Amino acid sequence: MEQFDVVVIGAGAAGMMCAAEAGKRGRSVLILDHAAKPGEKIRISGGGRCNFTNLHASPANYISQNPGFCISALRRYTQADFTALVERYGIAYHEKTLGQLFCDGSSRQIVDLLLDEMKQAGVALRLRTSVTQVERRGDGFFLTLTDGTAQCRSLVVATGGKSIPKMGATSFGYDLARQFGLNVVETRPALVPLTLEPTMLERLAPLAGVSVEAVVACGKTKFAEAMLFTHRGLSGPAILQISSYWREGAEIAVSMLPGVNLFEELRAARAANGRQALQTALSAFLPKRLAQLIAETQRGPANLADCSDKVLRRIDEAVNHWRFKPAGSEGYRTAEVTLGGVDTRELDSRTMEAKSVPGLYLIGEVVDVTGWLGGYNFQWAWSSGWCAGQAA
Ligand code: FDA
Repeated sequence: MEQFDVVVIGAGAAGMMCAAEAGKRGRSVLILDHAAKPGEKIRISGGGRCNFTNLHASPANYISQNPGFCISALRRYTQADFTALVERYGIAYHEKTLGQLFCDGSSRQIVDLLLDEMKQAGVALRLRTSVTQVERRGDGFFLTLTDGTAQCRSLVVATGGKSIPKMGATSFGYDLARQFGLNVVETRPALVPLTLEPTMLERLAPLAGVSVEAVVACGKTKFAEAMLFTHRGLSGPAILQISSYWREGAEIAVSMLPGVNLFEELRAARAANGRQALQTALSAFLPKRLAQLIAETQRGPANLADCSDKVLRRIDEAVNHWRFKPAGSEGYRTAEVTLGGVDTRELDSRTMEAKSVPGLYLIGEVVDVTGWLGGYNFQWAWSSGWCAGQAA
């Protein structure tokens, strides 16, 4: 039987941050993971460069049934705190767009930073180890592991969400929360590409690979970012963002030329040169393949002079007021995160400790706090992990 002050389950972003912080406070800490390597999602994140935080991270960038819950943690450990840590390790980084900070080099540097922090704090890391059973014993916890047993005063659950099961995502954290009587807010894939009905997909098939700067809206929520047509439907940052707000049966509205009155532009082009092909006129505003498809879909005459105001208005509608109902999403297979999770009303917002189970902490993505695309999810992992690390 091994005894620790703190056992952290899940050596991902939140778990490693928490373990290092608890270790720095002189706690004996064991962090374990069933995977063969720690921080695999960090490694693959941001296209291999890890979008590790966002300059503008604030509670407004997070979705939760309890929107005020994240305020305390985000204030106690900020994006500036994590960026300072990155700088201390001499890791070069840059702002890509919209406040998103990426490593100049490999995301592996962030994993190494966390491993080094844990090593300096004397944290024991054990990989390829699963927890088969957790029992409350006295004021601590008794863990049955695949390779032995362990006892601890504080148990931290940092097992992440359900996305990318082939990388080892499990529902362990949710199941454990339920075992201890905590409510779990229904989970669903988020930051995920959306799929289209077969007929629409077939019509849009020639556009696979085409990207436009768009405003994509669902209800009152909208995002102005790139949208990408794919072989399965729609993706790109704008679609991933809106997917977190979309529900089955709801309509998505897309403007592919935001701020441009295409009707007036085409009218002016028609007045200036009526013999210009509609497709050519559209190509001045849109990627060629998209311009071609829109022109063909109108089935009307090919020259601007032959296009009535009615036709031009229809084109403006198709480009700037495209409304459709997605068939669904690509699901956890490709989702970047999981919406929902352990109900934050069950947790202390300062420490992440379960109110009804002293000594049990839940941090990171397993909790019902989901960030937008753009470094917000790692910031939540760092902030919630740091807070639990000060208390566990
Ligand atoms: P995380 O998933 O990092 O860690 C959980 C750990 O628990 C894993 O190591 C897992 O193996 C382990 N585990 C699970 N079940 C277990 C069990 N039963 N027993 C033992 N161990 C178990 N975010 C962002 O801010 N910027 C970005 O650039 C990206 N990019 C990105 C790309 C892709 C492809 C994905 C899928 C996701 C992102 N994200 C992102 C999201 C980000 O990766 C995610 O929000 C954080 O990794 C969550 O951190 P956690 O520590 O909570 O979970």
